Amino acid sequence: MTASESEHLPFMQDMQAALAHSPKSISPKYFYDQAGSALFDQICELPEYYPTRTELSILKSHATDMARYMGDNADIVEFGAGSLQKIRYLLNAAAKPARYVPMDISGAHLQAASTELQAEFPHVHIQPVVGDYTQPWLLPAPLPGQGRRVAFFPGSTIGNFSPAQAHAFFRNCAEHLRGGALLIGVDLIKSPAVLHDAYNDAQGITAAFNLNLLERANRELGSDFDLTQFAHSAFYNAPWQRIEMHLLSLQSQTVHLGGKVYHFEQGETLHTEYSHKFTLAGVQQAAQSAGLQSGAFWTDPQQYFGLLWLNIPP
Ligand code: AVI
Repeated sequence: MTASESEHLPFMQDMQAALAHSPKSISPKYFYDQAGSALFDQICELPEYYPTRTELSILKSHATDMARYMGDNADIVEFGAGSLQKIRYLLNAAAKPARYVPMDISGAHLQAASTELQAEFPHVHIQPVVGDYTQPWLLPAPLPGQGRRVAFFPGSTIGNFSPAQAHAFFRNCAEHLRGGALLIGVDLIKSPAVLHDAYNDAQGITAAFNLNLLERANRELGSDFDLTQFAHSAFYNAPWQRIEMHLLSLQSQTVHLGGKVYHFEQGETLHTEYSHKFTLAGVQQAAQSAGLQSGAFWTDPQQYFGLLWLNIPP
């Protein structure tokens, strides 16, 4: 096996498994190659995509309050750190943060963003970790004399997990961050029309982000998805309180991947993402069932988005 083949093996295995099943479904983590991460950054700037700017406004208004909960010399770990925009508010407000550990699966993106952040915050020890936080965690050892370990999980990325995966994430926090805390961002339930527009933007950036998954498979795995014969499909599933994203096959077609042939019926979909929406009580209950204790909650005037503080028992 070549180095490139072994690098892409997990994607190859998951894509083959996805295409062999009915209904077809693959993890949203494969959105985030370099092109996908850049498209996601563009999504965050879209007029219809309210979560990023709303969460930023909450951080801006309440970072001092949040930093008080962190305490001195905090060791801050961010999961799915992306472009490291949100942490700037907390690093500015925190009292002498001991260290900031951004973790992301997109290595090149993370490295570039960390270098830029380090120049802006020369007094903070920034230690990027390229890793998948849905796999067993490999956190750097605590620093001598450091304060509380605080995990930051913004963006409502928890919404992209199934309820079982969310429980496993909270259990990982309870196990690996004893005596620490979790500051988590959650997208709140609101008008279905607002939710629908956020995932069906007029410029088609979310569609390009979704379709990039197939482009990535063609690039990295040598498959032959015909990009003109798949369409972006995103809708709010009200009973399940989630946006669902799919890639919809516009005709009956076959795709070749790794020496095998897979079939799509016309109208069949490859499910690519859930984005669950929450009530405050719902997140508190999910976190408490994994042993975390609810603390402060901050939201915006429209109550579109929330940031919840969760204490982790020693
Ligand atoms: C990263 N995640 C929280 C985004 C979301 O809203 O679920 C990903 C996304 N998918 C489409 N637009 C944004």
